[in-house]
Amino acid sequence: MTAIEHRPSGPRVFPAGFVWGTATAAYQIEGAVDVDGRGRSIWDTFCRMPGAVARGESGEIACDHYHRWQEDVDLMKELGAAAYRFSVAWPRVLPDGRGPVNRRGLDFYRRLVDALREGGIEPYVTLYHWDLPQAIEDRGGWRVRETAERFADYAEVMYDALGDSVSNWITLNEPYCSSIVGYGEGRHAPGATEGHGALAAAHHLLLGHGLAVTRLRALARPGQRVGVTLNMSPTVPATTSPEDAAAARRMDLLVNRQFTDPLFGGSYAPDMAETFGRITDFSFRRDGDLETIGTPVDFLGVNYYYRLHVEAAPYEEADPGRRTAFDLGVRTVTPEDARTSGLGWVVEPEGLYETLVGLTTRYPDLPPVYITENGYGDDGVLEDTGRVDYLRDHLAATHDAMTAGADVRGYFAWSLMDNFEWARGYSARFGLVHVDYETQERTPKSSYRWMREFIADPVLAEPPAGEELFIDPVMTDPVIAGPVIGDPGVVAYGTGGYGRAHYGAGDYTGGYGLDDFDVADPVVAGAPVDVLVAGTPRGDRSGGELG
Ligand code: FCB
Repeated sequence: MTAIEHRPSGPRVFPAGFVWGTATAAYQIEGAVDVDGRGRSIWDTFCRMPGAVARGESGEIACDHYHRWQEDVDLMKELGAAAYRFSVAWPRVLPDGRGPVNRRGLDFYRRLVDALREGGIEPYVTLYHWDLPQAIEDRGGWRVRETAERFADYAEVMYDALGDSVSNWITLNEPYCSSIVGYGEGRHAPGATEGHGALAAAHHLLLGHGLAVTRLRALARPGQRVGVTLNMSPTVPATTSPEDAAAARRMDLLVNRQFTDPLFGGSYAPDMAETFGRITDFSFRRDGDLETIGTPVDFLGVNYYYRLHVEAAPYEEADPGRRTAFDLGVRTVTPEDARTSGLGWVVEPEGLYETLVGLTTRYPDLPPVYITENGYGDDGVLEDTGRVDYLRDHLAATHDAMTAGADVRGYFAWSLMDNFEWARGYSARFGLVHVDYETQERTPKSSYRWMREFIADPVLAEPPAGEELFIDPVMTDPVIAGPVIGDPGVVAYGTGGYGRAHYGAGDYTGGYGLDDFDVADPVVAGAPVDVLVAGTPRGDRSGGELG
């Protein structure tokens, strides 16, 4: 990589009215799994399966938020957060997933919502953050169409209960994880490893979302909004080989486009048939489903943690007919010089920029975006400088994406406090607030104090002069070279090629800068290119070199 001229982008000032908040999820914090008539969820079951969760841990007690919610609301007030995203446990409200409503379960959420409102904190309620009632799983779970109907019924129950106080509703959290990780990879509840079943689950989740949007809309008061939250991970081929590029594209379909295309583009991507045609006949799709799934939403929630660097790999199962939906002939790798989190996750703020700008370009009707999760995992140190750097750099990338045209309205840090991190159990901690699981004592970390100051004055200082702009020679596969406008992961376009640019080598601590650039000629590794940095007058080019 050859350095070219640096162009500082100035201080990043977030607009007034930008929503700042934190996020959590029911099973990760509530505990009290047998209290006040709560029914069982697939996570209660999954946690008891030997080897499913690290050290055999479960959300049985978690942060005991069910009893300590007032203290947690106080922590949010002290942070200065204007919003809080939490989820409702479906089995707490409908112990069998359908049928009689459990009033005591609803009362808990009523108390919470009232306390938030009193504290001037806007609730953003996620209806489904992975804790499917076990009774619904016993009837086939998300593999079957009926579950989509039951989900819509449950959405209506929740609106009846809280619709007078909750104006922002999120149907699903990360349907990729609920379907592919839960029914394909088997790493999450219900722990299935299926092909057709996992893809059916993805479709039925989307359908359930669409049905719920329709129901909520019919009931909504003026100004109330409905959205959905997706996890987005741009995929990057590990090398310039056509095989790795094709692998990255399959992974992109599995994780990203499988969900964004039907939601915002009105159709399933054409490569669905090519990629999954050997493991399913797609018989779960019915006429009219795409219209339901594509029912316009008021906002999109984006959860971003990392990009996926992928290379082609042998399929795990030789017989295509027996492959899981996760068995795609790909392998995720960590680039050698990568900056990583305490959990080893690759830290690449430019991936958030790519996500936001990529979505905006690919889907002309994309609604406003909220970053509904973004955060850093480690082992729980109180002086969590790694988390502060992560938050700051991703906020910078968010701001840069807004400058480039992405309509981003808010940011929710994951997470308010350390909690039950699914299959990793309690060892992975994402909180701004530390939780001692023995005593349930809450202790704010450095990141909490940093966030409090930042929310009070949401400005990121100018990058220091002298930083250099690098060109990253990725995505140079000739198969997809050309003016590929709008693919997620593509941040800059030109005639015959594209690429990406970023400041520093990932170790820049003053905030991460990104710029679009046009590439005039086909991108060939090692060949010089002309670079036009966005925001500078056309024709003001500085030379760069790829490879
Ligand atoms: C996301 C989940 C969230 C949390 C973070 C770290 O995928 O939505 O519950 O576990 O990852």
